Amino acid sequence: MLLSHKRADFGEGFLFGAATAAYQIEGGQTEGRGSSIWDTFAATPGNVHNGDSGKYACDHYNRYAEDLDLLADGGFDAYRFSFAWPRILPQGKGEVNQRGLDFYDRLIDAMLERNLKPFGTLYHWDLPSALQDRGGWLNRDIAGWFADYAVLISRRFGDRLASTATINEPWCVAFLSHMLGIHAPGHRDVRATARASHHVLLAHGTAIEAMRAVGGKNLGIVLNFEIAHGATNKPQDMAAARLWDGIFNRWYLDGIFRGKYPADVLAHFTPHMPDAFARDMETVATPIDWLGVNYYTRGLYEHDPERGAFPIRKIEGPLEKTDIGWEIFPQGLEDILTRISADYTSIPLYVTENGMAEVEGVDDPRRVAYYDAHLGAVLAARRRGADVRGYFGWSLLDNYEWAEGYAKRFGLVHVDYQTQKRTPKTSYRAFQELLTGANRQVA
Ligand code: FCB
Repeated sequence: MLLSHKRADFGEGFLFGAATAAYQIEGGQTEGRGSSIWDTFAATPGNVHNGDSGKYACDHYNRYAEDLDLLADGGFDAYRFSFAWPRILPQGKGEVNQRGLDFYDRLIDAMLERNLKPFGTLYHWDLPSALQDRGGWLNRDIAGWFADYAVLISRRFGDRLASTATINEPWCVAFLSHMLGIHAPGHRDVRATARASHHVLLAHGTAIEAMRAVGGKNLGIVLNFEIAHGATNKPQDMAAARLWDGIFNRWYLDGIFRGKYPADVLAHFTPHMPDAFARDMETVATPIDWLGVNYYTRGLYEHDPERGAFPIRKIEGPLEKTDIGWEIFPQGLEDILTRISADYTSIPLYVTENGMAEVEGVDDPRRVAYYDAHLGAVLAARRRGADVRGYFGWSLLDNYEWAEGYAKRFGLVHVDYQTQKRTPKTSYRAFQELLTGANRQVA
């Protein structure tokens, strides 16, 4: 037995799935698809490892049926995917690309034919370049642009989607992309960050309201979490970790579930926040039906006064690391799920991403161990009262890992990018055994 858990341990109705995102797998940048900020960011030397782009990626645009077969054969219940905004609205708004809509029609129908529940995400980072030309996340109008796009999707696909998420990982959209400059559009500017941090949540809340108004059901958002620990027990390092927890975790949780940004983070953003942002907080906190939790790792932080707006520095931790350098800390998943349900909300939680990068190969016992430990953390959180209803591994396929290009592999299934051949890894077999073995017992 590869995984130590049994399907029945998770209870009736618990969903197992795998996740991907459009830009990371689709390729197929044809048939009317517009440019996105990731196309231009990747085309700019120095931004992405090896200059890699998502131009071809896993060619999922053409090979989606084979990929969905892998999910079905693995015994998965659900598939988390994202819609590419520029494939549907090449200019971000206005004219619709019919062939883009047709692709998602085919994709969703193919899921339903295989009994896979479609978990759609509206925005997994591929902002149409035409909207970036208008300021992207710095422009308050993005709330309306995004809500219009959300309504279009809801009207066309809503009755076939098991759930809809607005934004994937708003921390990455705002901080990683506008403060740290690591993701598109690659800004390094505190004012841009303050604005994006608010507009991304305003867009989320505006879209939830708009989708609900046209009958949208089971609407949520996917947040990512990092457990922040002090590098030492010194008060200043503990304070650095606390502030990082605010920047990464509490900004989004407090905004969405309390309608208020945390005062410690706000103090750093205040001179740069959009005017009268406080009036938007009711929209930011529009009730949602479920929350997605993405979790990979923890970080160790120390106080560093040289670092300007945010006097925090991440230091290398002592725990075993994945191939992308992230410490393996399963306890963190139990802790964050428990904390969210104890302190913030009783709506259903889904682990919408969790997984690890491993060196290339199809035998990946470390990944099996990673999944085993994190599934154990989900069970522990459930015992402590967290209403976790599902778990999605990241990712179904090796794919375009953003600034790391194709060098970092998170897949349950290996992809040979030259031939596009898919080969299930040991970790895929582990899930298959967990999921279909249980089915055999039932039959
Ligand atoms: C998350 C992203 C996902 C993937 C994993 C490794 O932050 O949502 O697209 O890149 O990290």
